[in-house]
Amino acid sequence: MSQYRAIRGMVDVLPGETSLWQMLEQTARDVLFAHGYSEIRTPLLESTDLFARTIGEVTDIVEKEMYSFPDRNDDSLSLRPEGTAGTVRAAVQHNLIQSPQRVWYMGPMFRYERPQKGRQRQFHQLGVEAFGMPGADQDAELLLMCRQWWKRLGIDDVLTLELNTIGNNEGRERYKIALTGYLSDNFDALDEDSQRRLATNPLRILDSKIASTQAVLTSAPEMATFLDDDARAHHDRLCELLDIAGLPFISNPRLVRGLDYYNKTVFEWTTDRLGAQATVCGGGRYDGMVAQFGGKSTPASGFAAGLERLVLLLQTLEMDANTSPDLYIVSADDDAFAQALCEADRIRAAFPGLGVVQHLGGGSFKSQFKRADKSGAAWAMVFAAEELAEGKVTLKPLRSDEQQMTLSREDLNTFLHQLETLAFEN
Ligand code: HAM
Repeated sequence: MSQYRAIRGMVDVLPGETSLWQMLEQTARDVLFAHGYSEIRTPLLESTDLFARTIGEVTDIVEKEMYSFPDRNDDSLSLRPEGTAGTVRAAVQHNLIQSPQRVWYMGPMFRYERPQKGRQRQFHQLGVEAFGMPGADQDAELLLMCRQWWKRLGIDDVLTLELNTIGNNEGRERYKIALTGYLSDNFDALDEDSQRRLATNPLRILDSKIASTQAVLTSAPEMATFLDDDARAHHDRLCELLDIAGLPFISNPRLVRGLDYYNKTVFEWTTDRLGAQATVCGGGRYDGMVAQFGGKSTPASGFAAGLERLVLLLQTLEMDANTSPDLYIVSADDDAFAQALCEADRIRAAFPGLGVVQHLGGGSFKSQFKRADKSGAAWAMVFAAEELAEGKVTLKPLRSDEQQMTLSREDLNTFLHQLETLAFEN
């Protein structure tokens, strides 16, 4: 065995797993295209300050999870722990948000967390950011877009949408004061981590999983009573739109998220199928960030999904990406092979939705059929001298009890067309 192993928390995705990843990525691209979003690609490295200022100095991510280092010029750089800050930096730098702008990105993020199932130090996100739309209609569309993706993946019935509003800055500041007052009165009953957070980031205490702290929180003041009219109307309209669209959600007044840049809408999609790392996607509104970067004040809203967690979920549900070819081509001899080579080339060009594998390396029909079977192909396409003389090929079903057929070129095209339509439907 090699003396080198992947760094702890950084995981190789092996050939047997990549088809599931590709399926996940392709369905995402299709859904994003269908909603008018364009891809943006930003660097993995940004200045440390960019993340500290946006995500928040006293968040777990900035306090203890960033991969930060001085470069040769002694500037502090960090591997991106998330994609929103870099996207906003790029959008402001390149003047992308003069008018509404919808973008997405997919790629690795880095957080120095304790690795476990569904939690890695290098992980992948699909992120979506929409700029310029202040209303609840934008938040509703993002959530419907998530649901479209879940539906196409076949996982919508194991995911739950949790929704909350954390209001505007002023209301939140008033709420923080009330919450801090209440929690200070109950200081001794809080767990150690929450006691520490009381001075730095009291809202995050709402998220605590510790039973004693949760017990204290049952009587804590609620954000809802501190909302200003604007934030309340925004939230009510969002709930109304989700009801109209038939998208069920759970109101979770304790949902605050681990990044400081949000206002108004926050949400998470969770599942009970993955154990502790239950959140597969999270996001919300962050209307203040563009101005923070020196851009013209521009509302924004977005989300990011964790691809490892989605892959795990698909695996837990025993969902497979079908990567078996539709056709496996076998040929009787060298002459037949040469004709098959040209025909395979023609079929791939004329029917791009079909997976066509040609047997290479010769061998008996028996050994070629063995390989055909192993490939998982639905049909074997047989090129033999006598049939080729009549301009025909034989199709033998490998996985169904359909009839074997010997077809002319014209009938073959009709058959392949049907097979392609079926492949698209699946
Ligand atoms: P986040 O909640 O920090 O949000 O991350 C989004 C998702 O990334 C999580 O729900 C989870 O599925 C996945 N994730 C996070 N950390 C890990 C990890 N260590 N290992 C595996 N998966 C992980 C954000 O990053 C925001 N930028 C989302 C956003 C975009 N908000 C507005 N726009």
